[in-house]
Amino acid sequence: MASRPDQPVAVFDSGVGGLTVLHELLVSLPTEDYLYLGDTARFPYGERTPEELQAFSVEIADHLLDAGAKLLVVACNAASSAALGAIERHLLETGREVDVIGVVAPATQLAVAGSRTGRIGLLATPATVASGAYERAVNAADPHVHLESVPCPDLAPIIQGGVAFDAEVVDTVRRYCQPLRAAAVDRVILGCTHYPLVAPMLQRILGRGVTLVTSGTGVARSVERALASRALLNPQLEEGAYRFLCTADVESFRALGTRFLQMPLGEVAKVELGARVAA
Ligand code: DGL
Repeated sequence: MASRPDQPVAVFDSGVGGLTVLHELLVSLPTEDYLYLGDTARFPYGERTPEELQAFSVEIADHLLDAGAKLLVVACNAASSAALGAIERHLLETGREVDVIGVVAPATQLAVAGSRTGRIGLLATPATVASGAYERAVNAADPHVHLESVPCPDLAPIIQGGVAFDAEVVDTVRRYCQPLRAAAVDRVILGCTHYPLVAPMLQRILGRGVTLVTSGTGVARSVERALASRALLNPQLEEGAYRFLCTADVESFRALGTRFLQMPLGEVAKVELGARVAA
């Protein structure tokens, strides 16, 4: 069945990180309706295998399209790195013509285009770094650009945990930033959608000469172009609606999400997803 302009744009992540992408969409495309899913029961995705990430992502894509989405934003770097192709193949096989937009290409394009020195850093989860997706994307954009990648196993769980940041957190972040300072990079890709939530701390540690690169603005532009090309932009004149789904505790998602989105979350519903929940 063909999509209609009045259907929502769906956005998903393992938790609240994708809200940093949703935020850009709400600002750039305010007349769209949005449906956000945080797979909090299976967080963190950054420690998952490619097979798990593919199974989870395909299951979520099915759920969101069954709920009426007209376009899918994979607002998670771990899932984008491991599963974008798997989602696209699955949609093709099941006869659904829906655009799927990930976060790796938009961030890479911005970083490569903006770098004067040709030395770029990447902070990301272990799964994203291990996938090599950013290396491939940077190399395709410009083979003369060097990418220095640092896996940060603790950072997304610290942010998703929602506790106040103490000196130990700052030390952890400082340790992750050290190889990027040593490599004298001039752009740092925040290769996990949770990380823009600690951008001030990262900027202070990395120094003024470094520009932090996030995927949100680029994703919003890609979504706009994709919708326009299929005549699917929502023609309504007033602000669209947004609603939330998560797979674990609704109240903690609402509390953390409200804090990070800095807007009331309103309705949050719990959904049960079946594919191999964390051991
Ligand atoms: N926000 C997710 C990403 O962009 C990762 C967080 C997690 O480890 O689940 O990769």
